[in-house]
Amino acid sequence: MRLSDCHNIDDFRRLARARLPWPVFDYIDGAADDEITKARNTGAFDEVDLVPDVLAGVAEIDTSCTIMGRKSGLPLMLSPTALQRAFHRDGERAVAKAAEKFGVWFGISSLATHSIEEIAALTGGPKLFQLYVHKDRGLNASMIERCQAANFDALALTVDTIVSGKRERCLRSGFTTPPRFTASALWSYATRPRWTLDYVFGPKFRLPNLDGHVQEGTGKAVSIQDYFNTMLDTGMDWDTAARIRQDWGGTFALKGVMSAADARRAVEIGADAIWISNHGGRQLDGSRAPFDQLREIVDAVGGEIEIVLDGGVRRGTHVLKSLAAGATAASGGRLYLYALAAAGQPGVERAVRILKEEIERGMRLMGVTSVDQLTPDRLRWR
Ligand code: FNR
Ligand code: LAC
Repeated sequence: MRLSDCHNIDDFRRLARARLPWPVFDYIDGAADDEITKARNTGAFDEVDLVPDVLAGVAEIDTSCTIMGRKSGLPLMLSPTALQRAFHRDGERAVAKAAEKFGVWFGISSLATHSIEEIAALTGGPKLFQLYVHKDRGLNASMIERCQAANFDALALTVDTIVSGKRERCLRSGFTTPPRFTASALWSYATRPRWTLDYVFGPKFRLPNLDGHVQEGTGKAVSIQDYFNTMLDTGMDWDTAARIRQDWGGTFALKGVMSAADARRAVEIGADAIWISNHGGRQLDGSRAPFDQLREIVDAVGGEIEIVLDGGVRRGTHVLKSLAAGATAASGGRLYLYALAAAGQPGVERAVRILKEEIERGMRLMGVTSVDQLTPDRLRWR
């Protein structure tokens, strides 16, 4: 199987599985407990049907929209994800360049393998920084200041990771940051020489946004579960969020809001956007799917704050359904991570292009020429 054989996100997943050692693939693909929420995140879209209009004159269509004050070529964002150097030698750089080509937002994680400054210098496209609130307050302040100095367009505070979810695939594989070769996976490393040679001889794995503060995750190998449970601030609350919003001063989003009541509090602290998200099912298994929760949140705060639907998106029609149900945009991690792992920047570009074509085709078949024409009356719940 080659990149040119990939025609949908699941194809990239299969290619990534063939090219990555299983502990690395399972870190990306896996989720918490029984992975029920992860499956539901995508399954939820199937319970709603699109109602097309015909003869609408769709020769010219416009897929662009405005998200958090910046124009986006598509109503689709690339969610921030950690450790990208472990998936491909170019890591976040590949994602940043691919996002810039399509004029879409992407985010880098606090646990990114390229620095805030390097990513800022690489792209003028819309970019956000995802903040994990650490116990080390100096580190939190340093990351915010570095993003201010580098002119990041937005800060997204992740609020669903107060402790780590129970990721059983990672418990079995012993996956750590930085990745270490474990005996049970040696065969897998040996049979994926492209990844293994790149990892050993390619650019060094680093977490440069933690520099000067934290050894864990770079000098000292730890599981993501241990990292979260020892380094992050379990006491984080609404006052913390409000304070970070003040300290940052720029466009601000809360990532991981799931209830209408919390969405209301996000409005009250002056957030510009919320990401309805359960972290791709990697945290609280059994929690509701973002798409299932979207209408309730739109009813509560629609028009007062931007609402990003994050998780489970694998198809252009999932994006269209999210917009019709009231989201400003849809966003996803694995939709580009499988492609990054499979083929670097050309892989991410191909994945985004496929989704762009699906969005365009879907809009034409729906009889809409701009994304704001996707309204709730175009959906039927079964
Ligand atoms: C993530 N996600 C994530 N979120 C975040 O706020 N900070 C992070 O560092 C990461 N890291 C991360 C790594 C990997 C491998 C995955 C798959 C996910 C969650 C991510 O931003 C997003 O919420 C989910 O990926 C959405 O679900 P889908 O699109 O993967 O189904
Ligand atoms: C994860 C992190 C790093 O989901 O957010 O693995």
